Amino acid sequence: MEKKLNKIAKDTNFFLKNFLKKQNSSELIPAIKYGLFPGGKKIRSKILIDIGSLLFIDYKTLIAIGAAVECIHAYSLIHDDLPCMDDDKIRRGKPSTHIKFGESTAVLAGNSLQTMACEILAGPNLKINEKKKVNLIKKLSECSGHLGIAGGQYLDLSYEKKKISKKKIIEMEKKKTGKLFSFCCAVPAIIKNKDKKEIKFFEEIGSSIGLLFQIADDLIDYKGDSKIVGKKTGKDQKKGKATLISLLGHDNAVKYCDKIILDINRKIVKYGENSKYIQETLNYILHRDK
Ligand code: IPE
Ligand code: IPE
Ligand code: MG
Ligand code: MG
Ligand code: MG
Repeated sequence: MEKKLNKIAKDTNFFLKNFLKKQNSSELIPAIKYGLFPGGKKIRSKILIDIGSLLFIDYKTLIAIGAAVECIHAYSLIHDDLPCMDDDKIRRGKPSTHIKFGESTAVLAGNSLQTMACEILAGPNLKINEKKKVNLIKKLSECSGHLGIAGGQYLDLSYEKKKISKKKIIEMEKKKTGKLFSFCCAVPAIIKNKDKKEIKFFEEIGSSIGLLFQIADDLIDYKGDSKIVGKKTGKDQKKGKATLISLLGHDNAVKYCDKIILDINRKIVKYGENSKYIQETLNYILHRDK
């Protein structure tokens, strides 16, 4: 798995570096690059490629779209670490972007990354027809804004130090993290002109994967080693974050993850032999140590 992720990271970073090289220079480029490189497991791109393999989508197309997703993801991390959000000083094993460049620059670099994702999808590097591009841009924008990451982050912050129900925690995690995974899973179906029902099927798979990913991230925060993880651990409890671990306890949260994995595997197996890739990624997501 590490080998596969490294290859995807290499190809994605190569794409992004070339993309940035072709743009005019600006004062924000150093902070943008700092937020993007190095580091980042590229799990979202891996999911895109795994689901893409079910519908036989070309690898280069998936890397370009994955690059756009990684821009949105990097923006969300830069903003997540700001003092007005989680106030974290370490990210990907180095000082957070706002520690290195200052808060206003970090905010603006994050904004730039968000719009850069749309530039990538709209640009000539992505070779799919224009109608599909518009569809992808619309979907990615929805997943990033108030109905997705931003809306979920709002809930995450407003739930701090409060007793929140299981249903509400799941809803919040599906927004702040699940929506971007939903986008990744919907992409291949959109490219292959599948009907609304099949697109929705994949979006729901993505939402479950995102939930699994966030619970696993919460488990890492609970018991992980910050030197391996590259960010501080034990911070959720300190901040009084509403998580399934704080509500149900560690063991029940793990059991819940096992259930999510079983459920996704059961649904995806009808796509044949290639469903083994997504299955291996799900196991990695739950059992990773960073
Ligand atoms: C961390 O995401 C933030 C969450 C959504 C839980 P990742 O664990 O994918 O972060 P990187 O990209 O590997 O640093
Ligand atoms: C972040 O969740 C989710 C995002 C959408 C960025 P966390 O706040 O748990 O992520 P980490 O632990 O700081 O990476
Ligand atoms: Mg957060
Ligand atoms: Mg955080
Ligand atoms: Mg976390």
